[in-house]
Amino acid sequence: MLRLNKELHPDFAAEAARIDLAAPLSEAAVADIQAAITRYPVLVFRDQSLTDIQLRDFAARFGPLEIGRSAARPGRRRLAIPQIGDISNLNEDHEVRALDDRRRLDSLGNRLWHTDASYMPVPVVLGMLHAVTLPPPSPFGNGETEFADMRAAYDALTDRMRAAIEDLVVEHDVFWSRAQIGFTEFPAGEREQYPPSPQRLVRRMPDDGRKTLYLSAHASHVVGWPVADGRLLLWDLTAHATQSRFVYSHAWRVGDLVIWDNRCTMHRGRPHDEGQARDLRRATTLDTAPTLEQAA
Ligand code: OGA
Ligand code: MN
Repeated sequence: MLRLNKELHPDFAAEAARIDLAAPLSEAAVADIQAAITRYPVLVFRDQSLTDIQLRDFAARFGPLEIGRSAARPGRRRLAIPQIGDISNLNEDHEVRALDDRRRLDSLGNRLWHTDASYMPVPVVLGMLHAVTLPPPSPFGNGETEFADMRAAYDALTDRMRAAIEDLVVEHDVFWSRAQIGFTEFPAGEREQYPPSPQRLVRRMPDDGRKTLYLSAHASHVVGWPVADGRLLLWDLTAHATQSRFVYSHAWRVGDLVIWDNRCTMHRGRPHDEGQARDLRRATTLDTAPTLEQAA
């Protein structure tokens, strides 16, 4: 078992004891981390110092890695490795992006409660976010990342609600999550490249059999229902699932590496001073099958 320093939330978040993730890890060490994630799907490692190559190589021990929407775009990019997501407000020349910069506006979708890449036919599993540069405190917030436990949220539903939503399928669409913040200026061809995907609303975690709600800002409506009814149900469920009792707020320190399981948590970034650099790097593992093909 991975040694832990402390629980950060009794249901789902913990801080691991000191370990250097840049050093080669044994199979047993990887299995220990995997087991810890099953119990605590938000797992915090402090005081890491990983190059992008080291972050990629560490993450790849847990599965094949995603190349995200932003890295898949043509043109110059700030980071060299496509499997490393650029979770920053910096442009290709390492300058803070202007307020009207389209990539900045697109990335503000991360401020809505979501699970990553749920609009993909085969979505992702582990997100691994490493803090490189952090902004100073601001009146609007300090750029924290909040996480919410979708297993606990599912468990807290009434029996009748759980039965009623058991087999629902939801359409997830990245253009819907962006439309909610008024962002519609996507690069040419991107709408065709990322069509919506159907996902189960209730999923079962393969490692411990727990059921979980699969919600996201990308979740647009319930397949087979009038759009408005489905959207209203999704809003109700999201309000339920993001109550403070289900939430852990992560106050970043430089060197943190936070791993979360996108199948059973949602997360959102919090505001910060947009004139100051915030630079985090993310590696993400891919799932193996569409959620509709996974056991209910
Ligand atoms: C992400 C994300 C939020 C943040 O990296 O997937 O949503 O606080 N980040 O940067
Ligand atoms: Mn995200």
